[in-house]
Amino acid sequence: MPTLLAIESSCDETAVSIVRGEHGQATEVLASEVSSQIELHRVHGGVVPELASRNHSLRLRPLVEQALEHAGLAVADIDAFAATTGPGLASSLLIGSTAAKALACATRKPFLGINHLEGHLLSPFVGETRVPPHLALIVSGGHTLLLDVRGAGDYRKLGGTRDDAAGEAYDKVGKMLGLPYPGGPEIEKIAHSGDPEAFAFPRSMLHDPHDDFSFSGLKTAVLYTLQGLGEPHEVIQNPQVVADLAASFQQAVVEILVGKTLRAARRSGHPVIALSGGVSLNGTLRAAFQAACDKSSIRLAVATPAMCTDNAAMIAFAGLLRHLAGETTPLDSDIDPNLPLV
Ligand code: KG4
Ligand code: ZN
Repeated sequence: MPTLLAIESSCDETAVSIVRGEHGQATEVLASEVSSQIELHRVHGGVVPELASRNHSLRLRPLVEQALEHAGLAVADIDAFAATTGPGLASSLLIGSTAAKALACATRKPFLGINHLEGHLLSPFVGETRVPPHLALIVSGGHTLLLDVRGAGDYRKLGGTRDDAAGEAYDKVGKMLGLPYPGGPEIEKIAHSGDPEAFAFPRSMLHDPHDDFSFSGLKTAVLYTLQGLGEPHEVIQNPQVVADLAASFQQAVVEILVGKTLRAARRSGHPVIALSGGVSLNGTLRAAFQAACDKSSIRLAVATPAMCTDNAAMIAFAGLLRHLAGETTPLDSDIDPNLPLV
């Protein structure tokens, strides 16, 4: 059965995974190693590209060795190598893709360049025997994308964000509220003790006829509300106000994402909605999606928590499906920081 090793290094996680699978069978994840750089970047309040790529080159080799050890395999047992080739930070993408190409070159095995977003998109189906036709919502730090998926490799874009991604809005609002980076998980935590109806924030584009999203107006509404309550750095000393702002912001994000996705799903007729990307870790978002899907008799597919944030198992899975379909990527292909999925 074909075995593939993949490297993910598009942003601030260095990750290596080994998967094994065959047509019509559930893919087995033999190893999935992730070395997070969050602590390294936290002091800067966001990802510093040069720090990220330097750290990728330091972490990559031991991580490949660790993955092989966990899988009980040698490099010679790998049938194909894959790496994320975009979108992401150019210098970070180069480290992972060059390493995977070098391994492919040295072992005379095929190389596959994978779109990071395809990895997220397919992540809810890693343990399944096939990717069913579905409506996909990818919500990460850099993207908010709604897609009509007919099957693996057959994607049609329905809508995307016109400004900030959902995760980006979480991170920016988190910063405004004095919370550590990344803001997403921090806002979720603190929102539990807040009132989601304390502030009436806008549900931008919720009822517009198209499938696009906008989160920058919501972010600005949080800022103006904060400023209206007094001196922002003093206001954020009050934990109840911060919790109420966080809960009200999150409620608006959840209503927009659930409302627009469910409407598109009903229109498409797909009986499955798949949620992926870092923001899909959010428990309030998942619960709201589950309730709405139950009401409409739609199956909700979500990735395991480890597969929601950046990891290499999702890249390996996407790579394996392409490898099984007979695809390869030339070794002289380039990375693309803005690589579109469709
Ligand atoms: O998919 P991901 O790991 O990286 C990208 O490809 O962007 O997503 C990271 C994003 C960050 O914006 C982070 O704040 C957000 O996912 N995130 C969350 C939660 N956990 C991570 N947002 C809301 N609630 C969470 N629990
Ligand atoms: Zn990602």
